Amino acid sequence: MKFLVISNKRMCQGIYLKLKRHRLTKGPIIRNDDKLLIPLNNSVDLITIRRLFPECEELRIEEKDYLIPERPRSFKDLLKNVLGSDELKRIPSSFDIIGDIAIIEIPEDLMNRAEEIGKAIMRIHTRVKTVYAKAGRVTGEYRTRKLTLIAGEPKATTIHSEYGLRFKVDVLNTYFSPRLAYEHRRVAEEVRDGEIVVDMFTGVGPFAIHIASLRRCLVYAVDLNPAAYRLLIENIKLNKRNLKGEIIPVNADVRLLAKYIRNIANRVIMNLPEYSHEFVGTALTLLRKEGGVIHYYTFEDEPEELEKAVRKLRCLVEAQGRRILKVLKVRRVKSIAPHRWHIVVDALVS
Ligand SMILES: C[S@@+](CC[C@H](N)C(=O)[O-])C[C@H]1O[C@@H](n2cnc3c(N)ncnc32)[C@H](O)[C@@H]1O
Repeated sequence: MKFLVISNKRMCQGIYLKLKRHRLTKGPIIRNDDKLLIPLNNSVDLITIRRLFPECEELRIEEKDYLIPERPRSFKDLLKNVLGSDELKRIPSSFDIIGDIAIIEIPEDLMNRAEEIGKAIMRIHTRVKTVYAKAGRVTGEYRTRKLTLIAGEPKATTIHSEYGLRFKVDVLNTYFSPRLAYEHRRVAEEVRDGEIVVDMFTGVGPFAIHIASLRRCLVYAVDLNPAAYRLLIENIKLNKRNLKGEIIPVNADVRLLAKYIRNIANRVIMNLPEYSHEFVGTALTLLRKEGGVIHYYTFEDEPEELEKAVRKLRCLVEAQGRRILKVLKVRRVKSIAPHRWHIVVDALVS
């Protein structure tokens, strides 16, 4: 294999980066006695090197038999010598990263290898400081899940970034999914200046904060969970300089709030997919009598999951004596289990 031989170590990084920019190296830099070697693509010759680095006359190209150690590309590569191939297959390749906390699903019978798995994740994803394994489903009114610490610092709060906004999250006591980032942004982009929005199940506030960062509008951000409410207030402060709109944080059951503020919203966000069907009446009470948009989230099984979601919402709206004038959008937000989807229906309601 061809190598560029460099004796001046201080220059090596700059030379390497320039070669990388021109796609001329197979990388990475190799230490060899008192010299550094940069593996080159076969097409590179000394003329190319002189043209790229006219000031470095001492650079030489040498052919050497040198086996470049294969760099592990994923945490599963690191586990190849630790776990059997059947065990390895049963560990998911992807997992959530919230700020500097990773959360992975490990089959119960492999939990005795959890620490090795967690450490491998931290070695590959160097910004991860804590790794949890899921220890149950998302449950309860607050939509939280039990987690087992498997590696790193024992902490639950972290700062997560989405589209340049920052969210403080407590992974043990509040709901947050990094896989909703696009959905938070998508809904925010639908909002127009001057609207009044109710985010009925705001959690730590991602929909509300995305919306207020893009539009001069008013958002009621409601959540029952006191821990989520406290973080919502912190998150409003954390993003204050980026907010054009105003957010009114409310720590209450949204059904109680709807007794006091009726007929007010141009738009209502209902991201409580497991139970949102129980709250359509509340959403319609909050929505202006002249009509408005609801973003209705639900879980549906394949097949025809999109059609099922629309049909369900249509029935629920009609049961309240109102009508869907137009389905503006229906999409799969994320997969939550094999053949089961988190779905959103955006509907203009009379
Ligand atoms: C699935 S989480 C959604 C969080 C947030 N929208 C997001 O995208 O990250 C649902 C939230 O609804 C809250 N919640 C559940 N029932 C509620 C109710 N009756 N009134 C207000 N909030 C409620 C839970 O505490 C939880 O934070």
